[in-house]
Amino acid sequence: MYEFAIAWEWLAFAVRWLHVITAIAWIGSSFYFIALDLGLVKRDHLPVGAYGEEWQVHGGGFYHIQKYLVAPATMPEHLTWFKWESYATWLSGFAMLCLVYYGGADLFLIDRHVLDISATTAIAISIGSLAIGWIFYDLLCKSPLGKNTWTLMGILYVALVLMAWGYTQVFTGRAAFLHLGAFTATIMSANVFFIIMPNQRVVVADLIAGRTPDPKYGVIAKQRSLHNNYLTLPVIFFMLSNHYPLAFATAYNWVIAALVFLMGVTIRHWFNTTHARKGRPTWTWIVTLIIFIAIMWLSTVPKVLTGEDKAEVAPAFQQFAANAHFPAVKDAISTRCSMCHSAEPVYEGINRAPKGVMLENDAEIASHAREIYIQAGRSHAMPPGNITDMTNDERKLVTAWFESAVSEGKTE
Ligand code: HEC
Repeated sequence: MYEFAIAWEWLAFAVRWLHVITAIAWIGSSFYFIALDLGLVKRDHLPVGAYGEEWQVHGGGFYHIQKYLVAPATMPEHLTWFKWESYATWLSGFAMLCLVYYGGADLFLIDRHVLDISATTAIAISIGSLAIGWIFYDLLCKSPLGKNTWTLMGILYVALVLMAWGYTQVFTGRAAFLHLGAFTATIMSANVFFIIMPNQRVVVADLIAGRTPDPKYGVIAKQRSLHNNYLTLPVIFFMLSNHYPLAFATAYNWVIAALVFLMGVTIRHWFNTTHARKGRPTWTWIVTLIIFIAIMWLSTVPKVLTGEDKAEVAPAFQQFAANAHFPAVKDAISTRCSMCHSAEPVYEGINRAPKGVMLENDAEIASHAREIYIQAGRSHAMPPGNITDMTNDERKLVTAWFESAVSEGKTE
């Protein structure tokens, strides 16, 4: 059923489209509110219970916003909630995790040179780590250690670095970075779902009942949204990093990840300070630049293959290597693709296998069958600009190879 591979590809695209849109909505509204919050000005004429106000101009009109802490005296008639931006981002992100990493576990999640585990074990570790991460974080925030903002942030940082290291010991570098992003984003979304929203509902119930809401709810929400504020940029880095093998597939990838979390703080600090009208701390950009250069430098350390060499074809892909078309496909790949897609590319200007995709031996070609089919069989995305003159017959061959191997695999 090759139709399945095509539908899968489109489904992955659709879910990615959705995920990016919801993430824009979530991060956009969250950045907006952080900036608004920091920019609020206290004035004498403010109504009772109002903490500050701000004037803004946008889209052909002026906005006059006032913030009430913890709530106004009575329940307003209309109240807009911000929660689906966050939930939809998490749900679509989890759907992508399932499609790309659970669906393609043998290729994207598991690296048998790192840890030889089954797809089921890998998926269990993945889901388990996300759940445990939230529980640990939440208990930590509620514990006495959570009372001091900076102690708490320090412990959280150490925990994130440990996770970065841990994930690289279990998964492919690509999956490790993606999981670090998902781990952090799960904490952020769970903050909204389990803490911020329920607390806001308590406050609303108090208002309706005519009780004065407890200010502690505002304080808790503030702590959690402070964490979300500093975690946002690293999460986006990790989500995008799977396009940049130098970040995720080099020897010190976990150290790079640790530095990325620091950049999240230094960059956000500049914006937070500026939005609070407390000056423009240029030093944060200098520190950010130094960290970035350190990351680039770390990524040049070559990764050495550890463990035994596993060049034999993994069971999940044997049907592609056993197919009758395989020898001819292998020939086509070595003349049209391997000059770029190898451990040491010979193509001028390409220094590393693009996207970490190597197509040299049977195991590598068989395991990338679906990608080869989509990139060079069904579409003409590869070779780029058909620079190596791949012929129509070779593309037909690649298509026939994948489609017949898939249908043979099904009839077994
Ligand atoms: C001239 C060098 C070159 C040749 C030849 C080449 N590729 Fe690529 N390939 C690239 C580059 C560069 C990228 C990364 C493109 C990007 O960043 O989107 C890439 C990406 C890929 C990817 C990963 C796509 C993704 O989005 O994850 C696959 C799979 C791939 N190529 C397969 C092939 C196949 C199959 C052939 C031969 C038919 C081939 N390539 C020939 C340079 C090449």
